[in-house]
Amino acid sequence: MNQLTQIINVALPKGRLGEKVYDMFEAAGYPCPSIKEDSRKLIFENAEIGIRYFWVKPSDVAIYVERGAADIGVAGKDILLEYSPDIYELLDLNMGKCRMAVAGKKDFRDNTNRPLRVATKFSNIALDYYNRKGRDIDIIKLQGSIELAPILGLSDVIVDIVETGTTLKENNLEVMETIVPISARLISNKVSFKFKNYEIESIVKNMQQVMK
Ligand code: PRP
Repeated sequence: MNQLTQIINVALPKGRLGEKVYDMFEAAGYPCPSIKEDSRKLIFENAEIGIRYFWVKPSDVAIYVERGAADIGVAGKDILLEYSPDIYELLDLNMGKCRMAVAGKKDFRDNTNRPLRVATKFSNIALDYYNRKGRDIDIIKLQGSIELAPILGLSDVIVDIVETGTTLKENNLEVMETIVPISARLISNKVSFKFKNYEIESIVKNMQQVMK
């Protein structure tokens, strides 16, 4: 176990990725056994070493960290690119790997005489990508099941996360372009990084050790 001199608050993404991330913290010397108990509790503390974990919705982690409710946390690069939170990105954890991609129907051909209709949850990433290509787009912002949009003619293409590619395949869609690779990142609140620097740097070092 690695004792911390000031308590560190850690926002973990609720779900399968979060459990793997917690295992990594545990292996790095920051265990909190009560977190493994099946309960609806959201906050878990190991006072002995000075660490407190809480489960938050994955897309909310960066908000907790940016505003200092958490000192550090783990967020997907997709969320960091989409919302550009004012945080430090400390470490690529090499897990939760997937990519942000443009996908569409197999027979789709772009008609450049009109704006491309793009359905996505990630409007900033999509706008930025097509801006750089100089292509006009019409964003159709959805919250989920994005793959439905091109099938029903709501959009021409989608910009979405592709992990195994199964969702696309099972819906007769295919990747047309890869925008950016995605993985989970350890992030820090900027003020915490200054005032709890020793603790946060120790966590980073011990996490790097686990990844070797
Ligand atoms: C994501 C994404 C795709 C799916 C891709 O959805 O939006 O639907 O995963 O994974 P695959 O390539 O392995 O099939 P998520 O499960 O995050 O839920 P969502 O529908 O709320 O976006």
